[in-house]
Amino acid sequence: MRLDKLLANMGYGSRKDVKALIKKKKVTVNGEVTRDTAYQLNPEKDAAAVNGEIVPYQKDIYLMMNKPQGYVSATVDDRDKTVIDLLQPAYQIFNPFPAGRLDKDTEGLLLITSDGDLAHQLTSPKKNVEKTYYAKIRGRVTEEDKQNFADGIVLDDGYKAKPATLAILQRGELSEVEITVTEGKFHQVKRMVKAAGKKVVYLKRIRMGNLHLDGSLKTGEYRELTDSEVDMLRNGENKADS
Ligand code: URA
Repeated sequence: MRLDKLLANMGYGSRKDVKALIKKKKVTVNGEVTRDTAYQLNPEKDAAAVNGEIVPYQKDIYLMMNKPQGYVSATVDDRDKTVIDLLQPAYQIFNPFPAGRLDKDTEGLLLITSDGDLAHQLTSPKKNVEKTYYAKIRGRVTEEDKQNFADGIVLDDGYKAKPATLAILQRGELSEVEITVTEGKFHQVKRMVKAAGKKVVYLKRIRMGNLHLDGSLKTGEYRELTDSEVDMLRNGENKADS
């Protein structure tokens, strides 16, 4: 990574601020003052420091957000606010993006990262990563619905969804359920529920692989993943807890 990008990523200001720091001889690489803002750091070998303090090298960021309603899962949008707008500039500078999409009116667990490989691992249809949603549904859910979900319910366009789990938490005119799917087609859960003759009125993702939404995050809040959470995702431990 370029020296000026690293320092900007690590919160030493904009690229312009960082250039000024370098010009003032405040920045060293391996103990030597450098004037080369474009210096390509080798993370294995090179240690950069500002005012004598070593700058920890961080290539990518990994954030868990409790997505609020009203924001789109994109990096830019002409009309709507995006989840990236909710991030502090110190995180935005990594050019992160959401790994997978939640609808504008869906809340809950969203991984935002700059790590394209990991995002691919989590969202590729081939990987079958489980996603669990808590939903409020208008209509009484039945044992038959449960069976249809398990068999693979047929959607409005004739597509047969992969087998999914419907766990009924509360049965009534307004039912509460948890739905676990392994695919992520457009409006997947809403369309599955519609195929059962009912309507999702509230949707929140609570799990992706083994990553569970941190219950202490209010909607709109986010935190960095811990190293062990990142390792767990990276090592493909993304199936349901057994
Ligand atoms: N399924 C949906 O219908 N919407 C979402 O946001 C996620 C899954």
